[in-house]
Amino acid sequence: MPAIFSKAPGKIILFGEHAVVYGQPAIAVPVHQVQAKAVITPNPLSEPGEIIIDAPQVNLLAEWSSLPENNPLVFVIHTTLTHLRVVRPPAMTIRVTSTIPIASGLGSGAAVSIAIIRAISNYLGIQLPVDEVSALAYEAEKIHHGHPSGVDNTVIAYGAPVYFEKNHPCQLFDIPVPFTIVIGDTGISAVTGDVVKDVRQKWEVNLDEYNRIFSSIGEISRNAYQSIIQGENRRLGEWMDENQSLLKKIDVSSPELDQLIDAARRAGALGAKLSGGGRGGNMIALTEPDQADTIAAVLKQAGARNTIITEIKTISS
Ligand code: PMV
Repeated sequence: MPAIFSKAPGKIILFGEHAVVYGQPAIAVPVHQVQAKAVITPNPLSEPGEIIIDAPQVNLLAEWSSLPENNPLVFVIHTTLTHLRVVRPPAMTIRVTSTIPIASGLGSGAAVSIAIIRAISNYLGIQLPVDEVSALAYEAEKIHHGHPSGVDNTVIAYGAPVYFEKNHPCQLFDIPVPFTIVIGDTGISAVTGDVVKDVRQKWEVNLDEYNRIFSSIGEISRNAYQSIIQGENRRLGEWMDENQSLLKKIDVSSPELDQLIDAARRAGALGAKLSGGGRGGNMIALTEPDQADTIAAVLKQAGARNTIITEIKTISS
């Protein structure tokens, strides 16, 4: 049996993070410049059921039965095999690598899960529909943080722009006029689960205020969605700035994020905000395509560890 290779992209949330956990819509798009990969090689001389996990970036090389059940990689392998009703798969090594920075709002956890789920199902000759891939990755997301909205696994499994509302059918959409986003990494890792938990605690004691903020963010996502599908991209900058000021009100920005966001705006970005869980990780700035290099350079000067320029478009365009 030959080696099997699967990959999954990173993602950014354009609008609606955090509010999406409370039932508001969010807009997320894949970022194909970064990706997670899973390569499965058969180990014909080993016993069926033996799986070696080789994840060099987290210094992990071990037979899966020697690892705790709640290890996210073990969990996703186990969940996938159970879903596929395979008890003793042919022995294999799963090598996992990723260029998506960990704990930085680019969907690294969900992308790794999805690459593994696809690689295992392909290895076993089973074609899993995208919604099942997404649902399996959602189970693994719960290990990363208790109350995930499901936006990360959805946008990464479909690999396409998504207008996402919790407990609603997934809504993919076309982008008639592509637009350019510069992503800037603060280099500070922040665990989404911790930030989501903190927001929940504050929500519990400031219910009215937080619900008002979440509905305002939801309104921005709805407006931004209309702007995107009507090709009025310039308006998105305004919505991004408004979304960022609401994210600051729920205390999920950070001095480093604010510094990059301010630098991008001063350099002529049409709008900017944090993306993902916040308190670190990445920010995004909307820019004219011919300004993207300048904004990326300014972000670097302002302390960004890394920048990515990405064109947001329909996959087939
Ligand atoms: O930090 P990320 O990339 O996992 O994005 C989290 C987005 C949140 O809305 C904060 C949480 C969620 O489950 O949607």
